[in-house]
Amino acid sequence: MRRMLVAGNWKMHGLAADIAAIAEIAHAAGDNPQSDVALCLPATLIERAARAVPGFAIGGQDVHPAPKGAHTGCVSSAMLLDAGASLTIVGHSERREAQGETDANVRAKAEAALAARLGVILCIGESDAVRESGQAITTVTAQLDASLPGSVTADRFAIAYEPIWAIGTGKVPSVADIEEMHAALRLRLMAAFGDEGDRIRILYGGSVKASNAAEIFAVADVDGALVGGASLAAADFIPIIQATR
Ligand code: G3P
Repeated sequence: MRRMLVAGNWKMHGLAADIAAIAEIAHAAGDNPQSDVALCLPATLIERAARAVPGFAIGGQDVHPAPKGAHTGCVSSAMLLDAGASLTIVGHSERREAQGETDANVRAKAEAALAARLGVILCIGESDAVRESGQAITTVTAQLDASLPGSVTADRFAIAYEPIWAIGTGKVPSVADIEEMHAALRLRLMAAFGDEGDRIRILYGGSVKASNAAEIFAVADVDGALVGGASLAAADFIPIIQATR
């Protein structure tokens, strides 16, 4: 059985004044031991949050594949760990699009993070045009194959399937479409990693809210969620955590 993981992605939101919300979410996570909960914060907030809520999983949103060097504006795995993070997102579609990240870049980031003993949430997902063309499964499974690290352990590695057209739009794929995609991803993970691939969590992301979380969590092979907008306020995020019950 895979334990559910509910991770918040704060994107470019969050200042010191938001530590109270982080503490409230961490407290709710303690009240819901049936699932794992994490918050992926802007780099500037990681150390402050990690000090405020010891033991609660704080993550980054990206990591550079190199251990150090002349990479202005970037953070390494060692820096994330040093600040108190225990995981990081890699390959979010906003970075793939705005920073031109390729599957090869994403794979290198994931491998560097895992080698440093950071957990990884690796994001994949199709555009609206790809979904409309009927190529969603082919495209996303190819993206997964090309982004996957060479070896993983399921306790420190998760996939987030995030259809780009569902991010921040209020649109969500049908339950049947989510199930079909997650089943296809599961097959690819098992093809790559055997039984370990069956233990890797596959999160759904894209307009997850308190009102749709329970329905999404009930879908086969959905092992949690990566939540953007609805993770920013404790009042919105805590019911999503509770929906894993
Ligand atoms: O990484 C989470 C994300 O892209 C989904 O965002 O705001 O649709 O929940 P949102």
